[in-house]
Amino acid sequence: MEQLNKEEVVILAIETSCDETAASVVKNGREVLSNVIFSQIDLHTRYGGVVPEIASRKHIEKINQVIEEALERSGKTLGDITAVAVTYGPGLVGALLVGVSEAKAISFATGKPLIGVHHISGHISANYIEYPDLEPPFVCLVASGGHSHLVITEDYGRYRIVGRTRDDAAGEAFDKVARAIGLGYPGGPKIDRISAEGNPEAIHFPKAKIAGNEYDFSFSGLKSAVLNYLNSCSMKGEQICQADVAASFQKAVVDVLVEHSLHAVREYGYDKFAIAGGVASNTSLRREFEKECERLGIAFYHPSAVYCTDNAAMIGAAAYYEYKKGVRHGYDLNAVPDLKLGE
Ligand code: KG4
Ligand code: ZN
Repeated sequence: MEQLNKEEVVILAIETSCDETAASVVKNGREVLSNVIFSQIDLHTRYGGVVPEIASRKHIEKINQVIEEALERSGKTLGDITAVAVTYGPGLVGALLVGVSEAKAISFATGKPLIGVHHISGHISANYIEYPDLEPPFVCLVASGGHSHLVITEDYGRYRIVGRTRDDAAGEAFDKVARAIGLGYPGGPKIDRISAEGNPEAIHFPKAKIAGNEYDFSFSGLKSAVLNYLNSCSMKGEQICQADVAASFQKAVVDVLVEHSLHAVREYGYDKFAIAGGVASNTSLRREFEKECERLGIAFYHPSAVYCTDNAAMIGAAAYYEYKKGVRHGYDLNAVPDLKLGE
């Protein structure tokens, strides 16, 4: 038993669910030995969003190079790794298939175990990397381009969703509003940056009220309110102030995310709260959570920006706990574009 506890588990992790081709080598779930990300953003920018077909083709072109680099930087060889992990859903099916096929090939060639990981479980587990003492249970807000979920992490890899978006994901709203005000893709970081120069109180955008579940989110009404505001300015021949629109929109999103999340933390009786996903790197969101968590005596955890947006280190962190539980996938592992979390 002592021997097993001291076992060094080195996981080669692969992530290709959207437009980042990523590979990482992670030791014992918390120590990142390498983290290589090839971002395809430049390729997709001209289309105003991710083009699935282009993403898959780029993944297949880059995947071996990215893995080779991850191994090289970690100082490990394929022979040194304990297991190979890969995101198998949710995500773009063609993009996921590249990573899944690659991981299966490596597992088959080396005889090392294969572990399929849920992308959201990866995002949540990104918090383990920089907080060695963080242990479940805790509440986590996952806000990315495809998801806005309020999740109770009951144990490693064991989740209960208590709130979700009824329509657009938070990141999707950032991307759509950024496009509407002429900032381009990807919208989140651009709105984040320009908001610093704007007045968040300049325009009052409504917060969505959801009937049924007080922890659910809705962002499509807010998006429509921004579009209506832009239309009415254009009809009146008024110039819009990009920074004010961005800051006011961002405030409306941040207020709702903070309100619902911390309400859930208190109602469910937890004292630890984490954030994850691309939107978790938003400056204003982090600042507000920091302030409110301190006021309420809740411990607040947030990954560095590089571990918020898609990466493979987070998949390696999640895979470690799956490995410890004995989870092993067979060579029939498939990509599951709508894979559910904790159901
Ligand atoms: O987690 P992620 O890389 O991919 C998905 O799993 O979806 O998240 C990407 C999303 C995009 O919608 C992007 O606009 C948003 O995260 N995002 C941000 C920021 N950085 C990325 N949103 C707000 N503020 C940011 N600083
Ligand atoms: Zn993601």
